[in-house]
Amino acid sequence: MRIYLIGFMGAGKSYWGPLLAQQAGVRFYDLDREIEESQGMDIEEIFSKNGEESFRVIEKELLHILTESHLEFVMACGGGTPCFLNNIEYMKRSGKVVWINPSAEVLADRLRTEREQRPLLQNIANEELLTYIQKKIADRRLYYEQADVRIDEENIDLAALLKSIAHV
Ligand code: S3P
Repeated sequence: MRIYLIGFMGAGKSYWGPLLAQQAGVRFYDLDREIEESQGMDIEEIFSKNGEESFRVIEKELLHILTESHLEFVMACGGGTPCFLNNIEYMKRSGKVVWINPSAEVLADRLRTEREQRPLLQNIANEELLTYIQKKIADRRLYYEQADVRIDEENIDLAALLKSIAHV
């Protein structure tokens, strides 16, 4: 089975993804890392050289390539992946989508110290970060809510998660 982890930046997709893949006995892919490898540039460079629109096209392309070449995996998607170019519909057709959804306050705390590699956050002042996250999540909720499974807790029970994925 293909499992796609979605959720806002800092939600823990890249942290929980490898652990979930290990538990499921399948490979793990981090979509951002795959994009960087394919372009020979980091995400920040792709944004600054080519712009977000071009990043979204590459992101979709890699999502399709990885999906079509593997029947089973856990993939940590980027925070924006489900929100562009019909990617959420594609992921739902191809596998199960899991939304990791910590509170905006938890995300802001994490992202305050983890934003160098995240072009969308670079010009946001610390005191504006929480409001920015709240607004952006409100814009993206429409997509995130289409996930098959949603997890709000911070400590994920991987075995229970796998069971619930199998039942949706
Ligand atoms: C983005 C999230 C990032 C990365 C890019 C854009 C977004 O991934 O894909 O900076 O639009 O939310 P992470 O969620 O892994 O930080």
